[in-house]
Amino acid sequence: MLGSNTARPGLGQHAGPASQIITGKARLAGVIGWPVSHSRSPVLHNYWLRRYGVDGVYVPLPVQPGTFEVAVRGLQAAGFRGANVTIPHKEAAYRLADVLDDSALQAGAVNTLIFQDDGKIRGLSTDGDGFVASLQAEGHAIRSGTRALVLGAGGAARSVAAALLRHGMDVHVSNRTAARASELASALPALGVVAWDGWENRLGDYSLLVNTTSLGMEGGPDPMFSPSLAQAGAGLVVADIVYVPLVTPLLAQARERGLATVGGLGMLLHQARLGFTAWFGVEPQVDDATQAHVLGSLRG
Ligand code: ATR
Repeated sequence: MLGSNTARPGLGQHAGPASQIITGKARLAGVIGWPVSHSRSPVLHNYWLRRYGVDGVYVPLPVQPGTFEVAVRGLQAAGFRGANVTIPHKEAAYRLADVLDDSALQAGAVNTLIFQDDGKIRGLSTDGDGFVASLQAEGHAIRSGTRALVLGAGGAARSVAAALLRHGMDVHVSNRTAARASELASALPALGVVAWDGWENRLGDYSLLVNTTSLGMEGGPDPMFSPSLAQAGAGLVVADIVYVPLVTPLLAQARERGLATVGGLGMLLHQARLGFTAWFGVEPQVDDATQAHVLGSLRG
């Protein structure tokens, strides 16, 4: 099960009060996006706040394009500790941050802002490391020198590819629009590019396949996306960052072939940990209870 091998006894599992504590000293954070109503982050962070008994709150922050900077400065002035940033503001957050972690520099985007005590804003990109953590939580060690194929060339592909490169993997990318794959390879020079037509025939070269496109997503361009895995080696791990549905047709096919699979929910949960720890001072666990809580909200 997701995260079951990372459980840390003693960190107050279910020890927090059932209701949220929000006093005059409450720590404040939120998620900035437009639209933001679809975000699962408030459900996740407030669950952890209740569970760990933290005096704090995490709110949705609908901020229209063009007003990002004024909103961030306002949050900082109002005593927020930071915020997550989602579409369409991740590049604006990158430009605004005073200090960028390597993860952000490589991703070319920021999804987590931390307002430091010295007044500076620190920017991180936690998506890629969240993806790697979700693989590791399911027992898949990332071995240096092994090969990964990333499908897609958008922001998610860039974060995931950069994180896999940081972990020493030999990473290739394949995208319908070849020019975008080449652009990505210019940004991440160690990245290889594979033609969109024919990557299926080269699957035997890889130990990890990651779909970062919107293919296979409910309501996306092709919800039935299920390319052939006939050439896959028995050790291939197939991952999808799509989490609606939880089991995409690609993952279903991989399972039928007896291949290991990793769904997108783990990345969603793990990418949140760094921000939560920085804002609220507690390192939260991603475990079965967390997963069940967020799953309930996805179904609800
Ligand atoms: P994000 O930043 O969330 O990754 P994005 O920049 O919109 O999102 O990228 C979406 C990815 O899905 C791209 O790699 C896109 O391929 P193109 O660059 O060719 O557009 C891919 N994608 C979307 N619809 C697709 C389709 N019908 N067939 C193949 N790839 C598709």
